[in-house]
Order: sequence, then C-alpha cells, then structure tokens
Amino acid sequence: MKKDLLKLLDLSTEEIVEILDVADQLKDMKKKGISHPLLAGKTLAMIFEKNSTRTRVSFEAGIYQLGGNAIFLSDKDSQIGRNEPVEDTARVLSRFCDGIMIRTFAQEEVETLAKYATIPVINGLTDFCHPCQVLADLQTIREHKGKLEGLKLCYIGDGNNMANSLIVGGLKTGMKVAIACPDTYRPDPVILEFAHQYPGMFQCTPDILEAAKDADVLYTDVWASMGQEEEFNERKKVFEGYQINDTVMGVAAEKAMVLHCLPAHRGEEITAEVFDAHADEIFDEAENRLHAQKAVMYLLMRNQ
Ligand code: CP
Ligand code: NVA
Repeated sequence: MKKDLLKLLDLSTEEIVEILDVADQLKDMKKKGISHPLLAGKTLAMIFEKNSTRTRVSFEAGIYQLGGNAIFLSDKDSQIGRNEPVEDTARVLSRFCDGIMIRTFAQEEVETLAKYATIPVINGLTDFCHPCQVLADLQTIREHKGKLEGLKLCYIGDGNNMANSLIVGGLKTGMKVAIACPDTYRPDPVILEFAHQYPGMFQCTPDILEAAKDADVLYTDVWASMGQEEEFNERKKVFEGYQINDTVMGVAAEKAMVLHCLPAHRGEEITAEVFDAHADEIFDEAENRLHAQKAVMYLLMRNQ
C-alpha cells in the first residue's frame, strides 16, 4: 500500500527517526559530492495554493538531485483554481506522476487528495500542520545537540500549524515541549488531546518566561500566518510580548538554540539581535528542508 506524509500524528517514532537518519545520509552524500539518483525518472507534482520560497525550491531542487523532476502547479493557472474537485485532480495526477506535494489551507483537502491518489501525497503546509518543516527542525536540533531525547523545546507565539507540528514531533522523539501562547490562540484541540498521552512532558501556558525556563531550543513563528493577513492589526495587540528577545534568552538553558521556520518578522516575534546571533542555526534549519524532504521523497516514492 502506498504511504503518504499528511501529518506527524500518522507517523511512529521509528518512522520519524528513519526519515532523520536517511536525511543525514543524503546530506552527507551531497556534501561529499556523491551523486545519488535514487528517484531517476520519477516526477513530483507540486500544488501550491499559498506562497512559498523554501518549500518550493527545496522540493524542486531535491527531486532534481535525486534524478527526478518536478512540475509546479499553482491554483492561479491550473484547473484547481477553477474548482476542479480535488478527487479528480488526485486521479489525474496519479496517471502522470509518481508523487504529489501540496500546500493549501484545509487539512481535509490534503486528506481527500491522498484518499483518491494512488501515488504518495506529501503535505507541504496546511492551516493545521507543517510536517516537512518539523522534520527539518528535528534534524537540525539533533545535528547541533547530538540528541533529541530529554531536551526541552519551547515554542513562543501563535498556536498555529507550526505549534501543532512541533508538539507532535517533539513529544514523539522524547523531547519536553512547552508552548507559550495567549489563551485565545492555543494549539488545535486534537493536538492538545494527543499531548495528554505524555504526562509531565507537555505544558501550554500564557506565561512566556515559565515556558522558556531552562529550554534547550527556543522556537517562534509569525503572529499572522498565510491567509490571516487581514487579522494582523488585531493579532499584533494580542501577541505583543510573545517574542524571543534577550529577556527570554536569559531564562533559557545555557547555549540554547533558536530556530524559526521563516519568513521572520524582526521586531515582532523575534528581535533582530537574537535572530542575528542565531542565524547559523536558523539557516542550517532552512537548508535541512532540502535534506529532510529528499529523505521523505525517497522513502515514499522509491517503489512507485
Ligand atoms: N518555512 C517555509 O515553509 O517557508 P516557505 O513558506 O518559504 O515555503
Ligand atoms: N505559520 C506560518 C508558517 C510559514 C512557513 C504560515 O502558515 O504562514
């Protein structure tokens, strides 16, 4: 049966670790200049109903490096934007391609696409989650800290797609996860329910300094996500103070890492000073999108 990557909730710890291990191997091969055309002749269709820089370029460059090719489909110039049912898009692309990556709004659309597609579907971000980003984040943390288990990850900001995925990815790999968010912007109830399975490992509080205390990794994301642009002024008031700054760094563990999925808004969710001081980690994280997604494509599409 074909496998998809729709959300981290669907993956076992072993499956997550396997992706990270393969990602490390692919990164090592690339650094050493060893060619690795493991998906020679395979085609990835990439559906984008939201903007992207990193996701598009890392998937497209990644499939080329694996010997395959990518086709970019935006809602603006495909029939997707003219309401062709996702069920039909799934069946048509399955006749031409070997995998589909999709970035859209509703998680249900991705789940329906996967149900009707006979080829693997990879979630490149929905309002609910961003699994590819968190796989790259976990790879980066493991690279810098040498392990995941036992570390404390603190996310500060909106209880959005990033918070949802970090909670699942962090807890499944043995990290403690603390979320600092306003009470009215907590993570998805399904995710909070999942976190109940990890007593003593999870915390969700409006208190930023409490969440950040002794954290090994601090993480943040924009106050208004794609599709929420019109809410920005209202959100700006609620999220004021939900920022990684020197005060927050002061309560975190010594040598705490700072990560950001990007794009970053300096002066809002992170200060320019903290961003610049941790730029090496943040751009390693961005680079790892390439390696982690190559691992996902390889593991899912190799038998297509
Ligand atoms: N982090 C991330 O997914 O970036 P893009 O929106 O540029 O793809
Ligand atoms: N939460 C952000 C993440 C961007 C990578 C968004 O959905 O816009």
